Amino acid sequence: MTTTKNYDVKDAKLAEAGRRRIEWAAREMPVVKLISERFSREKPLAGIRIAACLHITTETANLALALKEGGADVILCASNPLSTQDDAAAALVEYGIPTNAIKGEDQKTYYKHINTALDQEPQITVDDGADLVTTLHTERSDLIGNVIGGTEETTTGVIRLRSLVKSGGLKYPIIAVNDAQTKYLFDNRYGTGQSTIDGITRATNILWAGRKVVICGYGWCGHGIALRAKGLGAQVIITEVEPVRALEAVMDGYQVMPLMEAARIGDVFITIAGNKNVIDEAHFQVMKDGAILANSGHFNVEINIPALESMSTNKQEARPFVEGYTLKDGKRLYLLGEGRLINLAAAEGHPANVMDMSFANQALCMEYIVKNRGKLKPKVYPVPEEIDKQIARLKLESIGVDIDTLTPEQKRYLSSWQEGT
Ligand SMILES: NC(=O)c1ccc[n+]([C@@H]2O[C@H](COP(=O)([O-])OP(=O)(O)OC[C@H]3O[C@@H](n4cnc5c(N)ncnc54)[C@H](O)[C@@H]3O)[C@@H](O)[C@H]2O)c1
Repeated sequence: MTTTKNYDVKDAKLAEAGRRRIEWAAREMPVVKLISERFSREKPLAGIRIAACLHITTETANLALALKEGGADVILCASNPLSTQDDAAAALVEYGIPTNAIKGEDQKTYYKHINTALDQEPQITVDDGADLVTTLHTERSDLIGNVIGGTEETTTGVIRLRSLVKSGGLKYPIIAVNDAQTKYLFDNRYGTGQSTIDGITRATNILWAGRKVVICGYGWCGHGIALRAKGLGAQVIITEVEPVRALEAVMDGYQVMPLMEAARIGDVFITIAGNKNVIDEAHFQVMKDGAILANSGHFNVEINIPALESMSTNKQEARPFVEGYTLKDGKRLYLLGEGRLINLAAAEGHPANVMDMSFANQALCMEYIVKNRGKLKPKVYPVPEEIDKQIARLKLESIGVDIDTLTPEQKRYLSSWQEGT
């Protein structure tokens, strides 16, 4: 294990501000708090080395503190170069959790930070987008023997891992936290929905009412963004490649059309497809002067930025996180947050209240991995149903909502086939 400095943050003096914001987020994370209190008594992660590659935010700080309470030795690095909250990172170091993340870091520093986390020789990996796991499986494969298991936070990461499994390359079990109902139904839908609109609003201060907002991808995140944009009075247009989701968007009351058509009429474009070059050269060519382009999908590949660069004669910052590209015909297109997930680049990411459930899943899945050490195979596992249900129950309890239970008669009815018409 490394003995050299194992953290790198922008400014240690930001720690006090970070600590106050971490405490504020904690107020909205009652389920993580309950888990943290139990972890503190039971120490289920005693001595376990965890390397976590996550967005370094106040919510992630609360997860890391809970894991530390559980006895783990945690090291953090950023899962995106532009999503770090520098004050939270500084506070984490003060809390004794080595953190490697600086907002705006370049590609080289981003991977240097991932490698510093791997120097810890983790037994559990926590990833958001699978960059840590990919680095471990390629450049640092000598360390894989130490690893008991891992977790993955987001859709794009789970897709990458499934493809790694298909090619026979995954070397240890990983739990797809993203696929828990208490994750995607709330984090992807309500978290991304609200915070994407928040990020674009903070970056541009636009009025949403009356705007034609084109949302590319009607998955769980797309559902949330569309719902919130509609709520603010926007005219929402959905583009999709998957027929059932496109049909769902039609029945949900949105206009659905190919992007080539939507490109001509949209005022604001938001990619949330988890795919490459969703908005491409041909679309830029027909867009209106002044169109705004934002991405909230995991990687900055959804808008073809190299094509936009090569079509432009000039690039100028209009305001922080807003870059105006002048095209050869004189028209200007505005790209937000370098095409990186705008909710974390220009706002604060998801509200703590939804991250409470996502990170409760993370914490309980790590406990599950330790308990089942040696029993799991190198594949992508779903979150165990009892963990998902337990989190839903705890969340309901924390907001004071009680629900009904099945009567013995109803239980019998639901498990029998004899009773019919
Ligand atoms: N910004 C955030 O904080 C945040 C949070 C959660 C997830 N994510 C990321 O957002 C992305 C979407 O996540 P999700 O959970 O909604 O995924 P999802 O798989 O549920 O939905 C993606 C949708 O995009 C569609 N799609 C794919 N290619 C397309 C194309 N070329 N044009 C139009 N539609 C296309 C798919 O058919 C699918 O319906 C992923 O990259 C995920 O990792 C970001």
